[in-house]
Amino acid sequence: MQIYLHLHSLYNAIKCIMSKHLIAPSVLAADFGNLQRDIEMINDSDADWFHLDVMDGTFVPNISYGQPIIKIINQHAQKPLDVHLMIQSPEKYIEQFRDVGADTITVHYEACPHLHRTLQQIADTGANAGVAINPSTNVSLLEDVLEITDMICIMSVNPGFGGQKFIYQTIPKIKKLKEMIDTRNAKTIIEVDGGVGLQNAEAILQAGARVLVAGSSVFKSENPKATITRMKNIGNETF
Ligand code: DX5
Ligand code: ZN
Repeated sequence: MQIYLHLHSLYNAIKCIMSKHLIAPSVLAADFGNLQRDIEMINDSDADWFHLDVMDGTFVPNISYGQPIIKIINQHAQKPLDVHLMIQSPEKYIEQFRDVGADTITVHYEACPHLHRTLQQIADTGANAGVAINPSTNVSLLEDVLEITDMICIMSVNPGFGGQKFIYQTIPKIKKLKEMIDTRNAKTIIEVDGGVGLQNAEAILQAGARVLVAGSSVFKSENPKATITRMKNIGNETF
């Protein structure tokens, strides 16, 4: 009986570590006047990655920041950089983003006519290759690149701005993509980006997501570090 109990708790611990989700706070919502302070906060928190949004004013109707700022963030960040390129012709800049410290580089399906080649190009730099899809793009369009994609980012808002409302149609999309991945036995993980917070994180994870990007819900909360911890601990009670 006792051996069974030990094995059972060991099994639960392994299951918990293996399926633990990742939290990627979106720096777009940070206080840029106190950027170093906010980076240190993420370093000291239970967050796993830094999510960095690059917007070009063409692919999306907003301009954020580019390589010089990411280079500075990389000097202070002690966790991997998850770079989300919301730009036209991202293939022109892949090596540059890798050089300033990107660990994962995600391009948009809608911005890449030669997606297969662009993903290969990302992999050749040694970074993880990600593809993001807009809310109006069907996940089935990714079937032929699943095996060469480390991460698929399902946008749960129309990209371009932080602080938008989560689009609930995203939940069935996550489930469908998870099924596609499992059927093919692919290693691709699912990230969900936009309007993610404590109120919907559990449903997103249950649908099959592995990485939660959270901007406003972290930085606009009273205690960002505690919010990250709460988000990271979601689901623990089920183990
Ligand atoms: C949206 C960006 C998101 C954004 C998320 O275009 O890709 O990463 O920063 O911000 P919140 O969590 O505030 O929706
Ligand atoms: Zn993003």
